[in-house]
Amino acid sequence: MNEMRKKTILSGMRPTGKLHLGHWTGALENWVALQESYNNYHLVADYHALTTNLDTSNLYQNTIDMVIDWLAGGIDPEKSPVFRQSQVKEHTELHLIFSMLITKSRLERNPSIKDQVRDLEIENIVYGHLGYPVLQAADILLYRGELVPVGEDQLSHVEITREIARRFNSTWGDVFPEPEPRVTKFARLPGLDGKDRKMSKSMNNTILLSDDPTTVDQKLRKAPTDVLKVRRNDPGRPDVCLVYTYHEKFNPGETAEIRQGCESGELGCVDCKKRCGARISEFLAPHIEGRRRYEENPSLVEDILRDGEKRARVVARETMAAVHDAMKLG
Ligand code: TRP
Repeated sequence: MNEMRKKTILSGMRPTGKLHLGHWTGALENWVALQESYNNYHLVADYHALTTNLDTSNLYQNTIDMVIDWLAGGIDPEKSPVFRQSQVKEHTELHLIFSMLITKSRLERNPSIKDQVRDLEIENIVYGHLGYPVLQAADILLYRGELVPVGEDQLSHVEITREIARRFNSTWGDVFPEPEPRVTKFARLPGLDGKDRKMSKSMNNTILLSDDPTTVDQKLRKAPTDVLKVRRNDPGRPDVCLVYTYHEKFNPGETAEIRQGCESGELGCVDCKKRCGARISEFLAPHIEGRRRYEENPSLVEDILRDGEKRARVVARETMAAVHDAMKLG
């Protein structure tokens, strides 16, 4: 058979500690699914984390906690190098070059910076925050990433990356591909506080991938359902109900029955939530088990990062050589 060249995936996350279901449905699930048919690179965006928090005292532990979730979720570090952005210096070099290729007004129009400023109530936007997508473009293009599996909130950053790649190529010569984003159906999983807001650590509305069944049930118990379904036998509207969205994702085999029960009033919210919690916990059980070996021995994670960083540097150096060559530097 004619072996086709595998395309390259680059994706990453900011190290905010243990991951939640939104990370799984928005990105990690896709990373794992695509790992066999692509060359994957996964980066811990520790420099990006500085845009929302200058306190670095938890950064290391947050990195370890997050990478354990990647590994437990199915990322195979032999196949897919896992590394920290801060340990591969070429990210900052390429970021500097890219910062010449995009205007300040384009970056100010980036919708995700507006969302962050609103959600996190940021008062003063720093230079690095404005340049967030420029650093992300450097992350992706340093590995000549062709596919970027991300949550919906990152689409604007991939668009900026494409613009920068085009601009570089037309100015100095063809070095970079124009990467395509890839989002999942559940790219935007709503948080426990209702259907309007996505699951996010800063909103405190998450179910962690490491939550045990009791915690999952407790968290679901407080989740809002259809406001018109007040008593057990009142008919409900699954399409406006948060818990039904979770059934759709984590209990797809029973959605027809849940819908029927809810709409007819036979199924009360308490029971519906119990069933939902049980399915979520079933889904999480192997994940929690998978974390254990790394939790007991965090130096395994450190070794994985060191190895990933070594392999990432090889590719990063190659790309920078092509960049310098095209720009006739050096
Ligand atoms: N901005 C991404 C997030 O907050 C993290 C990230 C950094 C990233 N560099 C990347 C994602 C490159 C995809 C590709 O989730």
